[in-house]
Amino acid sequence: MRYRTLGSSDLEVSEISLGSWLTYAGGIEADQTRACTEAAFEAGINFFDTANVYGRGAAETAWGEILSAHPRDSYILATKVWGRMSEDPADQGLSPAQIAKQIDASLTRLKTDHVDLYQAHRFDPAVPIEDTIEALQKVVEQGKARYLGFSEWTPEQIRAAIDIAGPDLFVSSQPQYSMLWQAPEAEVFGLSAANGISQIVWSPLAQGVLTGKYKPGQPVPEGSRFASADMAVSKDLVYSDATLAAVQRLVPIAEQAGMSMPALALAWVLRRTEVASAITGASRPEQVHSNAAASGIELPDDLLTAVDEALGDVPVTEPTLGPNAKTGITHR
Ligand SMILES: NC(=O)c1ccc[n+]([C@@H]2O[C@H](COP(=O)([O-])OP(=O)(O)OC[C@H]3O[C@@H](n4cnc5c(N)ncnc54)[C@H](OP(=O)(O)O)[C@@H]3O)[C@@H](O)[C@H]2O)c1
Repeated sequence: MRYRTLGSSDLEVSEISLGSWLTYAGGIEADQTRACTEAAFEAGINFFDTANVYGRGAAETAWGEILSAHPRDSYILATKVWGRMSEDPADQGLSPAQIAKQIDASLTRLKTDHVDLYQAHRFDPAVPIEDTIEALQKVVEQGKARYLGFSEWTPEQIRAAIDIAGPDLFVSSQPQYSMLWQAPEAEVFGLSAANGISQIVWSPLAQGVLTGKYKPGQPVPEGSRFASADMAVSKDLVYSDATLAAVQRLVPIAEQAGMSMPALALAWVLRRTEVASAITGASRPEQVHSNAAASGIELPDDLLTAVDEALGDVPVTEPTLGPNAKTGITHR
């Protein structure tokens, strides 16, 4: 496993990291969650990403049990705040009160006194940005988080925060990024890099689509994410006849290069130096090991050209589409 420095921080994160959305919030059995997490340690993965909202605390609770058995300095722990945590519609967002409440709840569930990275899961246009920034900074001042990051903020929102608090405020940006979803390249990558902010990218395998296991015109394979009603919640982001056909055009490219499809997809996101880590999900320990093997694979230019040709016009490259489409900034 290779490691990259996370933005302007002193954290050295594994190029392949493990995330807990859908899977470890109850999507798979508890013993498989444990097996995948232990497989990550075996494979040299030191970076774990969760969120308060994953299973409304269930994913953090599951990892609190497993990770706390390991020395605290042997893993880098990231969580997030923003999502709705109960039936109460006020129980969400980035108000100072919500941030103060949610960091304590996350630390309790994670059985630790600090996280290494605390991320604003989305932007909250209902709260003055100055208030959100001060509340996040307070979390760091209190020693409850070492560094701050954001997920799916627009360039305007990122710029506004940096204008207020300077480039040292954030060390990471967490966008969706994969061969099928390339929109962050347009602006977020460059803006972040200029301000000491790394990308840690989510769904680098497009939720499994880029492994090639979903075939056009065929039923989804049993036991896969999209065969589970609970885990197919974001299927529409990545699953269409056009994307499945494009992925099948990638299969011979991976074969000729002597690598697996997951390795090709993960090495593709890691070809960009702006990306510090690819946050993978895994439902089985074998997947963790297979994905970890992508670290260190260099993709030659002719292969990258072949990938572009195979993908054609399938990738989403328009920054105004998708999860970061929401703009709007409130000031005090
Ligand atoms: N910030 C955000 O808004 C946001 C949003 C989404 C995710 N995330 C983060 O990103 C993490 C990863 O997201 P993701 O789970 O969608 O990532 P992903 O790596 O694109 O997809 C993971 C899924 O693909 C399948 N898979 C993985 N490796 C495989 C392999 N080697 N062979 C075959 N199938 C394989 C598994 O599903 P099956 O085996 O069940 O088919 C697995 O659960 C999350 O856990 C979370 O931490 C953040």
